[in-house]
Amino acid sequence: MSVLRVSPSRALAGEITPAGDKSISHRAVILGAIAEGDTQVTGFLQGEDTLNTARALAAMGVRIDGLGTPEMRVHGVGLRGLQPPPNQLDMGNSGTGLRLLMGVLAGQGFSTTLVGDASLSKRPMDRIAVPLGQMGIRVEGQGEKCAPPVTVHGGKPRPIEYHSLVASAQVKSAVLLAGLYAGGTTRVVEPALSRDHTERMLAAFGADVSREGCEVSVSGVARLSGRLVNVPGDTSSGAYFIAAAVLCDVAQVVVHNTLLNPTRTGLLTVLDRMGADITRENETSQTGETVGSIRARTSALRATRIAGDEIPSLIDELPLLAVLATQADGSTEIRDAAELRVKESDRLAVTARCLEAMGATVEELPDGMIIHGPTELRNAALDSQGDHRIAMSFAVAGLIADGQTTITGAEYVHTSFPGFVRAMRSIGADVEEAQS
Ligand code: S3P
Repeated sequence: MSVLRVSPSRALAGEITPAGDKSISHRAVILGAIAEGDTQVTGFLQGEDTLNTARALAAMGVRIDGLGTPEMRVHGVGLRGLQPPPNQLDMGNSGTGLRLLMGVLAGQGFSTTLVGDASLSKRPMDRIAVPLGQMGIRVEGQGEKCAPPVTVHGGKPRPIEYHSLVASAQVKSAVLLAGLYAGGTTRVVEPALSRDHTERMLAAFGADVSREGCEVSVSGVARLSGRLVNVPGDTSSGAYFIAAAVLCDVAQVVVHNTLLNPTRTGLLTVLDRMGADITRENETSQTGETVGSIRARTSALRATRIAGDEIPSLIDELPLLAVLATQADGSTEIRDAAELRVKESDRLAVTARCLEAMGATVEELPDGMIIHGPTELRNAALDSQGDHRIAMSFAVAGLIADGQTTITGAEYVHTSFPGFVRAMRSIGADVEEAQS
C-alpha cells in the first residue's frame, strides 16, 4: 500500500516521454501470441495490467523472451496453438486484458477461468458473454452481470453481426478476436467510434479487416503473421503532464513520442476548445499509428460541453478533464458518460467526491457532471478507490491546491504508469510516493 503526497508546484518545465501505450501493448502481445512466426515488440508497457496479459499468455505455452522488459520477442503459436493453463488466469486490475483474452479463448479447444482483483471482480463481463453466446460459445460468470471469475468454454465460434449498445473498444475487440476463429465474416457495429487499435493491428498482422464508419468486419478463419510492433507512448499517460502544464502558473512541458490516433486525442480537441495553449509537433507514422510531440503551456481556460460521440475519444481522460474544468471560467458539462460508472471505480461518483473534498463546486448527474469554475482548490486527504486514473488526476489537482494533498491507494498507479512519480518530479512537480 502506498500514498502519494503532492505539494503545490507553481512552476513546471521539462520534457518527458510517457511509458508505452497500454491499449497497444495488450494487443501487441496478444496478436503476437496467436500469430505464426515471431513478433518483436519494442516499448512494451511495464505496467501490471499489460504484464498480467503477457504472463497469462506465457502460462498458455507462449514463449516470450524478455518478458519483464520493454523489448520482447513473442514466439507465436498460431491461432489455435495455446495450451490449457495449469491454473486460473489472474488478470489483476485489467478489464482490457480480461475482455480481450475472453475473445481469444472463445476459439481454443479448452475451458479457462479468468479471475481479477476486488475492482475487476465487480465489473460487468456480460457485455462480452452475450456476443460470445451468440457465436455459440458458453461463458459462465458471477451474478446478473457475469462478473469474474469467468469461465470461457472455448470451441468453434460462428460468425455474427453484432450491434453493440456501448461504444467500447473492449467489446469490439473481443468479438473481432473471436471472429478470427469463425468461418465467415464477423461484423461489429458500435453506436460511436471507440479506439481502433485492434482493427489497425489486425490489418498489420495480415488479417482481412474492413471498416466503414462505426462498422468493422473481420474474415475468418484468419492467419496472422508475426511482425515488428513499436509501441508509442501512451496518450492517456501523457495527458497528466499536459494538464499539469496547462494548470500551473509558469509552465511549459513537452510530451514526446506520444500516440496521436484520432480515436484517442479527444482531450486535445477539448483543450483547444477551452482555449489551452497546446501545439502538436513532429508528427510521423509508426506501425499504422500517428505519433508526435505535444507542447503545453500555462493557459487560461473557458468552460465547455463534452458529450455524444466525443466521449469515447477521451473516456479515460474524463476525471482529469473534470479537474481541468475546476479552473475554467464558467460551467463545464460532461454528459453521455455513464460508462465511467463501470471502470476501475465508479469514476463519476469518485471524481465528484474528490472534487468536493478539494472545494470545487460540482453536480453529479446519472451520466456525467457539471463543474462550476473557476474555484481555488484546497488540499485534501483522498483515496484512489483502487483506480489509477483517479490517483493520477488528483495528483495533478494537488499541484494547484493550497497545501499538501495525500492520495492513498497510490500503488494502483503501477497498473498503467510505473514511472509516473519520477516523470512528474523531472518537470519540477513536488510529488512523492511513500509506503503507507
Ligand atoms: C480500452 C478501452 C476502453 C478504456 C480502457 C482501455 C482498450 O474501455 O477505458 O482503459 O484498450 O480497449 P472500453 O472499451 O470498455 O470503453
